[in-house]
Amino acid sequence: MRIAMAASEAAPYIKTGGLGDVLQALPRALADLPENDVALFLPYYKKIKDNPAIRAEFLASFTVNLTWRQQYVGLFRCETGRKNLQVYLIDNEYYFLREGTYGFYDDGERFAYFSKAVLACMNWLDFRPEILHCHDWQTALIPVYLDAEFRGCFPDTRTVFTIHNVEYQGKIAPEFFNDVLGLDDYWRGVCSFDGCVNFMKAAVTRANVVTTVSETYASELRYPYYAHGLSGILASRGQNLRGITNGIDVSVYDPATDKALAKNFTEQTFADKQINKRALQKELGLGQTDAPILAMVTRLVGHKGIDILCFIIRRLLERDLQLVIVGTGDAKYEHALMAVAADYPGKFSMNLRFDSGLASRVYAGSDIYLMPSRSEPCGLSQLIAMHYGTVPVVNATGGLKDTVPPFNPETGEGRGYTFQSYNGDDFLGAIDRALGDYFNNRAAWDALARKDMREDFSWRVPAAKYMEMYRGMLAE
Ligand code: GLC
Repeated sequence: MRIAMAASEAAPYIKTGGLGDVLQALPRALADLPENDVALFLPYYKKIKDNPAIRAEFLASFTVNLTWRQQYVGLFRCETGRKNLQVYLIDNEYYFLREGTYGFYDDGERFAYFSKAVLACMNWLDFRPEILHCHDWQTALIPVYLDAEFRGCFPDTRTVFTIHNVEYQGKIAPEFFNDVLGLDDYWRGVCSFDGCVNFMKAAVTRANVVTTVSETYASELRYPYYAHGLSGILASRGQNLRGITNGIDVSVYDPATDKALAKNFTEQTFADKQINKRALQKELGLGQTDAPILAMVTRLVGHKGIDILCFIIRRLLERDLQLVIVGTGDAKYEHALMAVAADYPGKFSMNLRFDSGLASRVYAGSDIYLMPSRSEPCGLSQLIAMHYGTVPVVNATGGLKDTVPPFNPETGEGRGYTFQSYNGDDFLGAIDRALGDYFNNRAAWDALARKDMREDFSWRVPAAKYMEMYRGMLAE
């Protein structure tokens, strides 16, 4: 099957969050199936141009129009080392040769341009995919431009739109429709919502199938609490709104080979996790005690549960444990957490930075991973934590509910500790249950951590589910 993917980020080229991880692993997993031909399209950002490790070959240049603008498109191809995976970079220095990836006043125009350019590039390449799979708002106009302007070139192409983050929809003032999009008036309704141009709403309406990154989140998105205004439109897609739970790239996140660790380990050499714990305590200035290390690697924003963490944090730190947090985010949380950390030297290590090596050492050296997100489309760090033998405590929402079934000490079933309603006391209650088993039932605890390490969180299963869905779409 010929499959095109378009996204605003994909590791190792460019990554700001989980989307980048997914767009690294999913195209590879699909290209591992010999019957597939996969092409991934990305903007050629400055950060990619500046990276000497990435070599791109120039293929062609042409222009696309956005109303009166005639914009340059440079098409480049990267060496992937895989026969049936091509990575294409779309060059336009006016839009992409900037410091940073998102957050510019003209992001709407930048990604409307990108969406149109992807179609123009596929046409130049004579790559006519059966499935064109777009991710998040930045590529949400692709199904629109496909139907409005490129159908003649791609008569049989079916589209999938995947929501990784419904909070960012690409909402822009209504003038944008005439100013930039250059589409017939018919499309104004499709691209508008609540008096604004709304990229994501357009894709939710026009893509053949809409997916999101876990099954539970696919049902949650039908409710206003989760959908940031789009619940009605999402619910109206019925069976064409589906959930497929993400995996992790187990060749990237592998405690047996991860070069950042003090000592590599596997489920069989689980005792070596202790060496990583001691090394982490040393690195972060924590006491060399046997108290469990509780950890979070997260953006410091409300929906990640930092608000309820702040509510309980001093009570939490009265217990026999150590706490490690790595991440940056809203100033109010950064300040609050730094202030608490100053009161608990040697017990609470607060690291206001993102560093992937440190993140790996935290996953490897900790005992308990906290993920109290208010909502979570999938969440990848709980999967990485489990893969590194660190037991999660999560709010049972979205992908956290699907990937962390509650542990039952009687039967040994489950993977971690969960709470059901979003408040600090329930979160603390779940942590206390985990601490109870850690201190009083150590054999069962270690068995749980080792079982979590054995679980298959690879992309094998989700890639097969995407293939099944694609095949179903082509058969319709
Ligand atoms: C977004 C979501 C996260 C998900 C990731 C990859 O970052 O917030 O839950 O795991 O996308 O799909």
